[in-house]
Parts: sequence; C-alpha cells; structure tokens
Amino acid sequence: MLRWCYVNGKYARSGSQLIDVEDRGLQFGDAVYEVWMVFNGRLVETEDHMLRLNRSLAAIGMQPFSDRPLLQIVRETVRRNRIKNGLAYLQITRGSAPRDHAFPAGSTTPTVIVTAKPVDFGKLAARADAGVSVHLVAEMRWSKRTIKATALLPAVLAKQAAKDAGCFEAWFYDPDGQITEGASTNAWIVDKEGYLRTHPADGDVLHGVTRSGILKVAHRLGLPVKEEAFCRDDLATAQEAFLSSATAVVMPVTRIDTQVIGTGRPGSVALALRSTYFDCLVQGQEPY
Ligand code: PDD
Repeated sequence: MLRWCYVNGKYARSGSQLIDVEDRGLQFGDAVYEVWMVFNGRLVETEDHMLRLNRSLAAIGMQPFSDRPLLQIVRETVRRNRIKNGLAYLQITRGSAPRDHAFPAGSTTPTVIVTAKPVDFGKLAARADAGVSVHLVAEMRWSKRTIKATALLPAVLAKQAAKDAGCFEAWFYDPDGQITEGASTNAWIVDKEGYLRTHPADGDVLHGVTRSGILKVAHRLGLPVKEEAFCRDDLATAQEAFLSSATAVVMPVTRIDTQVIGTGRPGSVALALRSTYFDCLVQGQEPY
C-alpha cells in the first residue's frame, strides 16, 4: 500500500519521484535520522529524540531545527497514514549539490524526509513473550557512534549476518570482547550478581532514547544498575539478556549464538521493565 510521506515541503505518496539524484543523503549517506515510536497516536519521548537529532546535526556541521515545525510535520505524516501504533522516521540530509565529498561551497537547503508505518504491537508482544536470539559480530563501524547517521552499511551487513544465522539481531563486540550494542538496538544483561548492565553512554554507542527511559524505569522499580560494559564471557553466566530501541522497546533475548541465556526463557526483569514502560505509555506518561 502506498503511504504518505513528506519530502521538502510536500506531502506525497511514497513511490513518487521526490529526491534529487544529487542529494547528498543518497550520494554519501551525508544525513542523520530519528525514529519515534507512535503509541496510541502519540509520539513517544518526543523531546529526547529532538535533542539527539540536533546533537547529530551539530556533530556533522549542520544547523539545528526548531522542534515545533518539525514535529508538526512528523505528526501530520503519522496522521495522514492513520497510524495509531507504529513508527515515524525522520531523515535530514545536507541537501542537493554536484557530487563532491567535502561540504558544498555556499549553503544548501537540507532535505527533510518523513515517513511513518504501522506496527502490530500484538505481534511484537508475542515475540517478547517468546524471546529472540542474537548473533555476535565483530565491530566494523566508525568511531562516531553517537551520531545517528543514515550511513548504516555496517548495521545492514551485521543484520543480514544475524538473519543468515537465524537470529533477530546482531550485537557488536569490540577487540577486547566487550559488547557495545546491537545493529539497531542497545544491548543489556542482568549479570550473575543481579545487576542490570549496559554499555555506558560514551562515544562507543548510540545514546538510545529507550535506553534512558529504561534506566528511569529501572530506578523506579528499585533495580540495581551498572552502566558498565559486559563481555562475551559474561554471557555464559548472565541471568537474562535483552535489547532496547524505539522499535523493539524491551525485547528479551534467550539465546546468543549457541549460548542459551539464563533459563532459556524471557527473564522476569526484562518483562517487568517492558510492562512498566508500556504501563507508563498507557497512562500517557513518558516512562519515568
Ligand atoms: N535504531 N543503537 C543503535 C545502533 C540504533 O540504531 C538504535 C536505534 C538504538 C536504540 O536507540 P533508541 O532507543 O533511541 O531507538 C541503539 C533505530 C530504531 C533504527 O535504526 O531503526
């Protein structure tokens, strides 16, 4: 089904020719993006995604966008697609200019692209009840991982490797064997001592908005937390594992390659975090 999208001032049906071949997003992946969960017709964690977007733009030498007009476009795209539950995507490229790697001389008008699609939260919940599997992949990404860049080829290759291995997600490990994050998610375990562990929000991982939300929920539930990287070796003794993102929220992981995690069933901490997060959304609150 053709959906509504927004490109540079116009709402159009997806499939229309709307992007210039010289757009730098297309030519170089010279662009950043955001993904919001849409829950009951509302964007979730609206401001945090805008803050990260403007941090990403600043990091690639682009001007910030004002929240209000941009969010109005995202909401209108969601509305036109009649999405109650789903996802909204926003991409901002450096704009169109004759192909040359360095920034174009003079100013270009950024290209703004918004799309939205529905998600079957029932299916997502069934997947969370069953748990998913993860495939480990050696880090092959650039070092500026806090920038939510659309240049996602390493993530694409890692996801495909995971799919080929019959897994739902890929988790990257660095040369020291530390798990950084997933191809499109943050990575978590409950370690053998019962601590909720995830990589610190430093330069090695994307600062997931859902990750921050989960930390707040964990605090509210009184769970012990260590923002400390875990290693491949910690997986054998982990009580639980899960991943987080705007698209998966909290998704229990029951197997990592051949390593069964904990009991091999979704863990109680992951499920509690998931249900509390959704409870907050149902009550119309951000998850804290
Ligand atoms: N991915 N780490 C990476 C590398 C990601 O690409 C994402 C999000 C996350 C989780 O961030 P957040 O909680 O803010 O969604 C972590 C989005 C969903 C995507 O690429 O589709």
